[in-house]
Amino acid sequence: MCRCSVHPGPTARIVEAEAVIMERLEELGRVSDEPSLLLFDGSGRTNRLTRLFASPAMKRANDLVASWMRDAGMTTRMDAVGNLIGRFSKLREDSKILLLGSHLDTVRNAGKFDGTLGVAVSIACVEEIRRRNQTLPFAIEVAALADEEGTRYQTAYLGSRALVGQLSEQDLALVDADKITMADAIRNFGGDPAKLKSCRVNGQDLLGYVEVHIEQGPVLEEKNQPVGVVTAIAGQTRATVILEGRSGHAGTTPMKLRRDALCAAADFILAAENYARQHPGMVATVGQIMAGPNVSNVIPGNCLLTLDLRHQEDAIRVKAFQELGTCIEEIENRRRVKAHSRIIQETTSVQCSTALSDLMRNAVRRHQPEVIDLVSGAGHDAAIMAKITPIAMLFVRCAGGVSHHPDESVRVDDIRVALDVLTDFVLSLPAPP
Ligand code: HGY
Ligand code: MN
Ligand code: MN
Repeated sequence: MCRCSVHPGPTARIVEAEAVIMERLEELGRVSDEPSLLLFDGSGRTNRLTRLFASPAMKRANDLVASWMRDAGMTTRMDAVGNLIGRFSKLREDSKILLLGSHLDTVRNAGKFDGTLGVAVSIACVEEIRRRNQTLPFAIEVAALADEEGTRYQTAYLGSRALVGQLSEQDLALVDADKITMADAIRNFGGDPAKLKSCRVNGQDLLGYVEVHIEQGPVLEEKNQPVGVVTAIAGQTRATVILEGRSGHAGTTPMKLRRDALCAAADFILAAENYARQHPGMVATVGQIMAGPNVSNVIPGNCLLTLDLRHQEDAIRVKAFQELGTCIEEIENRRRVKAHSRIIQETTSVQCSTALSDLMRNAVRRHQPEVIDLVSGAGHDAAIMAKITPIAMLFVRCAGGVSHHPDESVRVDDIRVALDVLTDFVLSLPAPP
């Protein structure tokens, strides 16, 4: 069966490219660190998708994606922390680079398009440019980044932070749930934690970083448009709050004498939700909670929770964290518990490059009736890459805006629009000076 039948559309291209991308993402979606579990009721297997930084599944994912890159005529390399980078160029080694890409890691029980869609569409874009035998005045590199979510080490953007030179010795000392340090995880993966500096990309060598990503929100579906252009990425505060009360006997400790850390946490969780509801554009999430000693007949004496705060304006987000700190003090006094809050990671909001985004808008115009601009509430590697180079992002509609969930899904026709837009965008980039 000919894979290269082209349709007479505005840009003759391989009709099945989007189908190949979808097939690839289905295959990649089965590469998980969570063994497939037999459901207790015997109704079948559940293949939860969880792919962690420097894990066995990430190794299999890198090998699979590297084969796609080679099929697209790219050379491939893995950097010292595990980022997989493909390169397509007919020019000299020192030519300017347009960096495309996204991340291959996932949250727990993830969908199969968050991150991976951007990697697969970028590789298909290179394939399309090669098929058209186009000679570009710059090289293209595709970064399949090793960690954006921070699921394993609770600190996000490890892959892109290595590229911009912001991965530190402290990061390498972080331990995961199995007490494995990041440095050991990198070594076990085949990387070299002593060579962090070798991962660094010189921003002067780049024309920009462009990331295609699912929207993870409802706007494009509401507007009934396949793709949208991102104008800014909201800033994030990721913090932990530890509450210390006193454990006690569930049966003999009168209510008025209790210092229940989990009830104090409950007060704080609702206070954070309430605060966000009252401040437009603010989102607050307590995604993780651990109570100790976690025994049904013991009053919880301690509790750790995570707090994720986001807003497009950094000043509003910073003020929110301060004001929630005042809430915590009130809860401490009323419940006679002690609280310790700590910011784990703070990412400022970033603006996308106007010049690159305008070129992206021109490309969108050729493939859909309306150009939609939107702000990203989700964080992306582009927010880190913005520290060294101009960035642009193209969002792809996803069903119901659902993400970080197995029901995450995209339409194959929207993948085709994203591929056509990215290809036109790349071909419209002016030759570097
Ligand atoms: O949490 C985020 O915004 C992204 O999915 N890491
Ligand atoms: Mn994500
Ligand atoms: Mn993502």
